Amino acid sequence: MKPGDGATSEARRAAIKALLGRRSVPAQCLTAPGPDAAQIATALDVALRAPDHGRMQPWRFRIIRGAARAKFSEALVAAARVREPSLAAAQLEKLRARPLQVPLVIAASARLRDNPKVPHIEQLLSTGAAVMNLLNAFHVQGYGAIWLTGPSVYDPAIAAALGLGGDEQLLGFVYVGTVGAVVPTAPERPAQAGFVSEIQPD
Ligand SMILES: Cc1cc2nc3c(=O)[nH]c(=O)nc-3n(C[C@H](O)[C@H](O)[C@H](O)COP(=O)(O)O)c2cc1C
Repeated sequence: MKPGDGATSEARRAAIKALLGRRSVPAQCLTAPGPDAAQIATALDVALRAPDHGRMQPWRFRIIRGAARAKFSEALVAAARVREPSLAAAQLEKLRARPLQVPLVIAASARLRDNPKVPHIEQLLSTGAAVMNLLNAFHVQGYGAIWLTGPSVYDPAIAAALGLGGDEQLLGFVYVGTVGAVVPTAPERPAQAGFVSEIQPD
């Protein structure tokens, strides 16, 4: 949408309303059916529109669905056992169950390359922007989603299980599904005061 492209003011209002209405949905409130292949592809296309200094294209997404979820869940449990041998059985069970409860998990990572003009932080920011686009795109298509991290994201065993290269940094998992009936109230949205200020002319 851009000025003069023929989009109606109604379409513009609807786009803003959709963006303002996005909220994360806890993974335990997400259920089948998940988005279909075309909807996933649309969301990924939106993700790949992230701003990208130097065309580094750092964003990587790995789709985990169907039977692959069990493999992922086992990897989470095995890695947690090694990280924290004293972890309670209930905690391990929670880790095991979560990816199986949702129809789709997308692992997001950044492939970081050295570029004197584009420090790694900018490549991470670009990937964060891509993940945000992904969340918005699933929301607009009527699905719930949430970006989760936790210790497994920083565990080399999980990076290996997902086949990440040595130059890739895992940034989280986007859990996606149909929003179940009971969803807790979203966090209160902040007012702009305190976050936004205007630089005054001297
Ligand atoms: C990088 C990143 C990692 C996050 N990891 C977790 C997490 O591990 N567990 C969690 O409950 N929320 C996590 N969150 C927060 C949720 O994704 C979500 O933003 C939060 O529940 C607030 O909901 P909202 O997006 O509707 O404001 C993470 C957010 C970001 C940006």
